[in-house]
Amino acid sequence: MPVITEIDDLRRLFRRRVPRMFYDYAESGSWTEQTFRENTADFDLLRLRQRVAVDMEGRNLATTMAGQEVAMPVALAPVGLTGMQSADGEIKAARAAEAFGVPFTLSTMSICSIEDVAEHTDKPFWFQLYVMRDEDFLRRIIERARAAKCSALVLTLDLQILGQRHRDLKNGLSAPPKLTLPVMLDLATKWGWGREMLGTKRRFFGNIVGHAKDVGDAASLMAWTAEQFDPRLDWDKVRRIKEMWGGTLILKGILDAEDARMAAEVGADALVVSNHGGRQLDGALSSIRVLPSIVAAVGDRIEVHMDGGIRSGQDVLKALALGARGTWIGRAWVYGLGALGQAGVTTALELIRKELDTTMALCGRKDVRDLDRDVLLIPPAFWDYLPDPRPEPERRNAS
Ligand code: GLV
Repeated sequence: MPVITEIDDLRRLFRRRVPRMFYDYAESGSWTEQTFRENTADFDLLRLRQRVAVDMEGRNLATTMAGQEVAMPVALAPVGLTGMQSADGEIKAARAAEAFGVPFTLSTMSICSIEDVAEHTDKPFWFQLYVMRDEDFLRRIIERARAAKCSALVLTLDLQILGQRHRDLKNGLSAPPKLTLPVMLDLATKWGWGREMLGTKRRFFGNIVGHAKDVGDAASLMAWTAEQFDPRLDWDKVRRIKEMWGGTLILKGILDAEDARMAAEVGADALVVSNHGGRQLDGALSSIRVLPSIVAAVGDRIEVHMDGGIRSGQDVLKALALGARGTWIGRAWVYGLGALGQAGVTTALELIRKELDTTMALCGRKDVRDLDRDVLLIPPAFWDYLPDPRPEPERRNAS
């Protein structure tokens, strides 16, 4: 077993272990993948201020996200098909998150169903909702999340239609995989994965199959998103869903200050600055670049979180320093899951915790709740597309 010291070690193991089509699904952005690349690359623009001779004892990473206590401000973002990365993957990830003390978010497009995850965990998890055309299905899935005691509904707003990821089309992505010759040749080198999958019954979209009507090809993500997702989702419908749910609501996929104002106006508890991991509108700005403009617009009215490009605890610290109250990881935990199952998700969280804690200490800070822009050095180029929203006297380290 190789020594694992960083998230990218998990990605390399994941790549070796999991069929190509599912690795590619996780590791793709849409079209040219510019936004996907910039989500990570733009973190590198931000540098850290080293501070010394500061008492670092008694550091704290615990805080709250959307009113819930978290061991560190890092939630597991919803990711589709994770039960294809590792057998019963959503249950494994939910258990790892629960033991660690951070939120797990179950995707509508999961393999294990809401009920399945609830049955195999002890603490409430969050449920991510995609809005389908079928009102009946919508009402029932919200009811199912409530019955499973999910403690927040995460409504995704940036995927009414699916962005094109070239490799998914070329690979013929489906769950379970269709056994074409190229797939069989690939599976022949992934026997550990195959053996695990033969041992589980959970190989279909568990929240959909048997629950939604008129699904043409339920194995094909592309086909059923095109058929089922509601392209008419608008702010009125968001308000209706808020009423139907009646609990903690998080709006995910906000990338513009105007939309952030709407999110605050409808009375959501939190919003997630997100471009869907660069998987939807290619050419959109990275989440970390957009974050300050959204914090400036609504940070005093609604909790602002962010996802997109986080691969280390240093990235988490940078997002918090720019005003995020919480961060979400997607690929970072999926790499861990694909590499080593539940233990891999735990490893991903431990790596991030250690990096966040050490970085915070070396920046001379002791509490994750007190991070601010003073820990960063920000080059003028960071503000090329969206100027620094702070008034001039406050821009102490804008250069
Ligand atoms: C679904 O959420 C996807 O990005 O594939």
